[in-house]
Amino acid sequence: MAKMELQTRIQNYCTETGYPNGLYVGGDGRMLGIWVMGNSYQVQSGYYGGYPHGYLKRVKALFPDKENVLHIFSGKVDLGALPGDTVDIDESLEPTYCDDVQDLSTVPVGNYDLILADPPYSVEDAEHYKPTMVKRNKVMRALGQKAKKGTHVVWLDQVLPMYRKDQWDMVGIIGMVKSTNHRFRVITIFEKT
Ligand SMILES: C[S@@+](CC[C@H](N)C(=O)[O-])C[C@H]1O[C@@H](n2cnc3c(N)ncnc32)[C@H](O)[C@@H]1O
Repeated sequence: MAKMELQTRIQNYCTETGYPNGLYVGGDGRMLGIWVMGNSYQVQSGYYGGYPHGYLKRVKALFPDKENVLHIFSGKVDLGALPGDTVDIDESLEPTYCDDVQDLSTVPVGNYDLILADPPYSVEDAEHYKPTMVKRNKVMRALGQKAKKGTHVVWLDQVLPMYRKDQWDMVGIIGMVKSTNHRFRVITIFEKT
């Protein structure tokens, strides 16, 4: 399949969501921009740290060409909004793969062309879940060893994860504003080289 240009992704995002466009392709060839998530700041599942309302719809509209989606750190992700397989370390959440995303030893990562990641952002956040804080570089390394060329990772965080420049291109950076008294976050989009 021909590679979809970033500008085409942005056009599809505007058409599909109807949201005002806050994205552009910068002089460095990356997708840059900001998403203001609007008034509906409730997390539908009620799960601590769940994706804000509308987030998955936006990501889906940016990647209409993707066929196999993997949600890592999946929690109670809304699969109705963006269907796919799931990976979480907490078996009570009944993920497709109950695994540590720092290893992904049981996950056929190479089968997926879009991977969404939503790690705990801090040690305090991690206390709401089963395990201790993750090492982001280990997750990127595990993904980098197994993901196929052209796969995109959409990583929502307060930190830019350390990644290997010979495995990943950073092709997009989108700031995310939720509402008053919520932390700012950044979506980093990586493409496997
Ligand atoms: C911020 S929440 C994700 C919430 C999700 N985006 C949603 O909409 O429900 C982080 C999730 O990562 C999981 N997690 C934390 N450390 C993990 C690890 N090492 N491997 C796999 N999952 C992990 C936690 O159990 C938790 O469900």
